[in-house]
Amino acid sequence: MKRALVVYESMFGNTGLVAEAVAEGLRTGMTVDLVEVGSAPPVLGEEVELLVVGGPTHAFSMSKPGTRADAARQGADARAAAGAGLREWVDQVGKGTARPVVVAFDTKVKRPRLPGSAARAALTRLRRAGFRTVKPAENFYVGGTKGPLVDGELDRARNWGATCAAEMA
Ligand SMILES: Cc1cc2nc3c(=O)[nH]c(=O)nc-3n(C[C@H](O)[C@H](O)[C@H](O)COP(=O)(O)O)c2cc1C
Repeated sequence: MKRALVVYESMFGNTGLVAEAVAEGLRTGMTVDLVEVGSAPPVLGEEVELLVVGGPTHAFSMSKPGTRADAARQGADARAAAGAGLREWVDQVGKGTARPVVVAFDTKVKRPRLPGSAARAALTRLRRAGFRTVKPAENFYVGGTKGPLVDGELDRARNWGATCAAEMA
């Protein structure tokens, strides 16, 4: 089976739940490694055929040290907030030589006309670094900064993961 690596960042746990559901969906057709960004390999192995990245939308984009500190002040996981985020990892992994297909998801607040997407920002950076993108960024919604996820989003995440695996077959 083809191999996927899912790398996610999560301050309050919501993106982590989505990442687990995406991984579950991916496992219908792929071998999957799921890692929090703080434990993610700085360089991709050639065995990774699909890279999946996910993170929370902060200030219309991927988090930065300042927005992670802000999240920590609001009660987020202090260890996650202190470490590197998806933005730093994406920039690091682009320095390696492996260039698998990449797809991306994020979480963001469900509010009409609230622009910005961590996933779209991640895809833009990875595409510029030479990674192949095959589908648009996917957004999953939370009710507020700390969550919870909107009803049905975990099912949608599972289905999205399964669709990604089917498209890689
Ligand atoms: C500092 C900060 C900035 C945020 N900016 C945005 C934003 O621009 N757009 C948005 O939809 N949500 C924004 N949010 C809400 C986050 O997207 C939300 O906290 C996140 O999806 C929850 O995921 P997590 O539990 O994995 O951290 C922000 C949250 C924080 C803490």
